[in-house]
Amino acid sequence: MCGIFAYLNYQVPRTRKEIFETLVKGLQRLEYRGYDSAGIAVDGPNKTATDLNNNNSICLIKKKGKVKALDEELYQKDLVDLDESLVTHFGLAHTRWATHGEPNALNSHPQRSDKNNEFVVIHNGIITNYKELKAYLITRGYEFESDTDTEVIPKLIKYLYDNRENSSVTFSKLVERVIQQLEGAFALVFKSRHYPGEAVATRRGSPLLIGVRSEHKLPSEHISVQYNSGHHKEEVPDKNSHNRTDSSNAINSNGDCVAVEYYFASDASAIIEHTNKVLYMEDSDIAVVKGGELSIHRINRQAGEDPVRAIQTLQMELQQIMKGNFDAFMQKEIFEQPESIFNTMRGRICFDTNKVILGGLKDHLKEIKRCRRLIMIGCGTSFHAAVATRQILEELTELPVMVELASDFLDRNTPVFRDDVCFFISQSGETADTQMSLQYCKDRGALTVGITNTVGSSICRMTDCGVHINAGPEIGVASTKAYTSQFVSLIMFGLMVSEDRLSLQKRRLEIINALKVLPELIRKVLSLDEKIKVIANELYQQRSLLVMGRGYNYATCLEGALKIKEITYMHSEGILAGELKHGPLALIDKHMPVIMIIMRDGCYTKCQNALQQVTARSGRPIILCCQDDSEVTKNAYKTIELPQTVDCLQGILSVIPLQLLSFHLAVLRGYDVDFPRNLAKSVTVE
Ligand code: F6R
Repeated sequence: MCGIFAYLNYQVPRTRKEIFETLVKGLQRLEYRGYDSAGIAVDGPNKTATDLNNNNSICLIKKKGKVKALDEELYQKDLVDLDESLVTHFGLAHTRWATHGEPNALNSHPQRSDKNNEFVVIHNGIITNYKELKAYLITRGYEFESDTDTEVIPKLIKYLYDNRENSSVTFSKLVERVIQQLEGAFALVFKSRHYPGEAVATRRGSPLLIGVRSEHKLPSEHISVQYNSGHHKEEVPDKNSHNRTDSSNAINSNGDCVAVEYYFASDASAIIEHTNKVLYMEDSDIAVVKGGELSIHRINRQAGEDPVRAIQTLQMELQQIMKGNFDAFMQKEIFEQPESIFNTMRGRICFDTNKVILGGLKDHLKEIKRCRRLIMIGCGTSFHAAVATRQILEELTELPVMVELASDFLDRNTPVFRDDVCFFISQSGETADTQMSLQYCKDRGALTVGITNTVGSSICRMTDCGVHINAGPEIGVASTKAYTSQFVSLIMFGLMVSEDRLSLQKRRLEIINALKVLPELIRKVLSLDEKIKVIANELYQQRSLLVMGRGYNYATCLEGALKIKEITYMHSEGILAGELKHGPLALIDKHMPVIMIIMRDGCYTKCQNALQQVTARSGRPIILCCQDDSEVTKNAYKTIELPQTVDCLQGILSVIPLQLLSFHLAVLRGYDVDFPRNLAKSVTVE
């Protein structure tokens, strides 16, 4: 739940100021991943090397709060000589979202091995066996200063270094042996004063990629993995380790000293402004940059494993990840929905022939049609996308559809069979609970399908097949455009599966025609923004807000309530109107604000009954309904009238006013919309 960024310049002179700016900018791009504290590690300035009185000292600068606070701190300290030019330098940076230990400077990263900062590490993920490792290291005389799980890592590497038998042990060898001791999930980047100018990075379960920039053409677009064999000689507190020879297969293998810059980051948004050439690391890869050369090492080659890592060219543009004219990323992303929905459909729906082709699924279509059931798994908003589309998927696929919260699915040890098809819905593609459910279903032989927004993400790579929702980068912590694009992707899946069902052609056509004009209808809904702002003005001092509906719009209630609670901190509940008289009705009186979603669909009459029940208790409902529905509006305290579309797509239009409402409520309440307290964009821990 943290953001990792590291920068290495080799034979590219950069002032300290430039290096700091690069590190801080990298962190700012990753701040959505966590923002309770931040820190950097850089080489100590020559003239003020305090601890060791040599040129290899490392400075740590860490600060509680957002990256901005760290940035201000950097300029206040005279630890750095801003004009000093460094031909080669390696710096680490980290933005944290606390899992172990409260947010403060000591618990923030980089974590260090000792007071001399011999080894420093940045970490994203969680080390589950840290208590055992810590206990062991304490018995060996190592002193801990933080409450983090991460601190065992720099201590462990120092322990291995201190106890090395071979004086020429390499940095990457030490890291290889460290990760053999670690359980849990991690992306790690290491720096050491014993290995100046050298970078080592590795991952297991948490994302990490490397950007490469050089004025020269890269001689190779691929890096061959080097596998190690044999047994090491040094003593470590455990059993199975292996040797390897060091890097020979590097980018600049022609022997020239080529100027090059490397960027290590949790995701591409931190790299794209420097380079579009990136290498996605695989689990257990150890990447080493030494003498300006990048090489990838692994311990053993597994069957079926690709021994080559491609340097890919990213298509994402920086502009896509900037805020533009909006006050917040979330607001921008809400207003992007006409385009993001269009991009989700682009090249996939042929409106002339009514064909829908999802390239990432077509080879598995037969298998999918033959399956026992579909299981849709996700967390939070992504789970709501499954709830929203369940009914239409049951209708179009004529298969049983289960919807599952990933955490609960695992808690129940849910039976999964070889002939199940399991969908993993995730904007980030990195959510730990969803990833673990994916592994669980893979282990049981089910076909796994990813519905993700992040190309190259873990879920995307682990699944057998899938759909990229193509919503574009979503930076705001509260998910908006990813939800509507997940929604459309799942509907397209239903349309593809039902293509040869004669009895369903009329229904398919109705949906396809509605999808064609959907971006236009979304624009109309967005034009209600001012009206919604006025309603927000009336509501923002309330403590609670209920959102009620049923059928196709039950998911809208859940999603609307989630948006409200996560960014406004108001209590908000999504209530199934059918359950009203089984409990929630007790909450209704003239003071309790209630939003009711009443659309002209199969549940219209039942929703009107719920409305009667609310008004009979002096409730004052704000009603989301179809345009010109006088029947409903006459009983409303306030109305938001929406364009009507086909029943199964109406939820896309009805969620947008709730996204906008939550945004305005949060602004009026004075909160930072893009960085809600206690939340992170990418939840990479269980
Ligand atoms: C809510 C929100 C979260 C995420 C959830 C899953 O606005 O963003 O509920 O939907 O953490 O994240 P992904 O979709 O990345 O798996």
